[in-house]
Amino acid sequence: MPIYFVTGGAGFIGSAFVRYILDRSPDARVINYDALTYAGNPENLKGVDPSRHTFIKGDICDRGSVASAMPDGCDAVFNLAAESHVDRSIHSADEFLRTNIIGTQVLLDEARAKGVRRFVQVSTDEVMGSLADDSDERFTEASPLRPNSPYAASKAAAEFVVRAARETHGVDTVVTRCGNNYGPRQFPEKLIPLMISNAMNDEPLPVYGDGMNVRDWIYVDDHCAGIWAAYEKGRSGQAYNIGARNEQHNIDVVRSILDALGKPHSLIRYVSDRPGHDRRYAIDPTAAETELEWMPSTTWEAGLEKTILWYKENQDWVEHIRSGDYREYYKLMYGSR
Ligand code: NAD
Ligand code: DAU
Repeated sequence: MPIYFVTGGAGFIGSAFVRYILDRSPDARVINYDALTYAGNPENLKGVDPSRHTFIKGDICDRGSVASAMPDGCDAVFNLAAESHVDRSIHSADEFLRTNIIGTQVLLDEARAKGVRRFVQVSTDEVMGSLADDSDERFTEASPLRPNSPYAASKAAAEFVVRAARETHGVDTVVTRCGNNYGPRQFPEKLIPLMISNAMNDEPLPVYGDGMNVRDWIYVDDHCAGIWAAYEKGRSGQAYNIGARNEQHNIDVVRSILDALGKPHSLIRYVSDRPGHDRRYAIDPTAAETELEWMPSTTWEAGLEKTILWYKENQDWVEHIRSGDYREYYKLMYGSR
């Protein structure tokens, strides 16, 4: 029975990835290690088969706790635990450096000590910085790392830590770099769920700057399939860009959400820009498509419809979050914008 150690499995992508593994590998067992920060939510794991899934609450920076949770000789470590929100990293970077860099080093050390077969680091396209509006340029695996936010810098540093573990200690590693994910259970601090939940509550939709920044969107389950393909077929030491060739201007995303919910465009409010706001992300996924034989299967239209439906049908999940510390967060980020 293969055993997989997944970190961050109570978060948005991590919980989708736990489901993905259990669905596609009927004999697999998953150990889900997560600190349950503000972004980790046990409700995200509702319905996951308890006979093949073990949840352990723990911090990836806590060496002793990681050592006792990670089984000897497990098949893979998938590192999805992270501080993941750019705006929070601009407000305060410390926790980003701690979790995203130190935590990755601790996991690598323990994976080596435990003889783990492969270490998969889930990284991001943001490590490659920003592309110009008026170009056809896309991020490839050869693009230089040029992070612009504290979050992106911490994820780039984590990639270097992964590289060093392979070069120095021979740990078998693979890195994935994906673009912007969307789908069910995404914390409503990120663009799409924030806009859906504000629109559902007839509250203003805060669009940064001129709304013309471009993001390359992918449905979360397609990202999960890409992580798995990199694990199964990726060459050791390689990074793979995962993207669905789906560039969208922020303002168009926001308008589509309002239209789908039957809400007026007058809810849109242009607010002051994010400092250091990356202008455009665009991924060239050719290597994943050819070498990993991976292809996304959800179109933007179908994915957005499924996502909006999920938020409409799970208003308790959203309201649970919105009624807690989120109010303070929202005031801090948007109060004087
Ligand atoms: P998320 O913020 O929804 O979830 C992060 C999870 O990590 C939470 O469950 C949290 O409790 C856990 N966590 C945080 N600090 C921890 C610590 N010190 N120890 C253990 N667990 C901890 O994030 P997400 O959007 O699901 O992103 C998952 C991963 O994918 C991250 O590594 C992120 O950088 C990467 N990624 C995200 C996107 C995206 O669009 N969301 C795109 C590309 C890559
Ligand atoms: O590209 C991958 C990255 O995508 C991941 O590594 C990050 O973890 C994830 O958070 C995401 O980063 P972004 O900064 O691109 O995502 P966010 O949802 O915060 O913002 C998307 C775009 O929308 C960005 O241009 C900023 C803008 N925005 C965002 C918010 C929250 C707004 O205009 N208004 C908002 O209120």
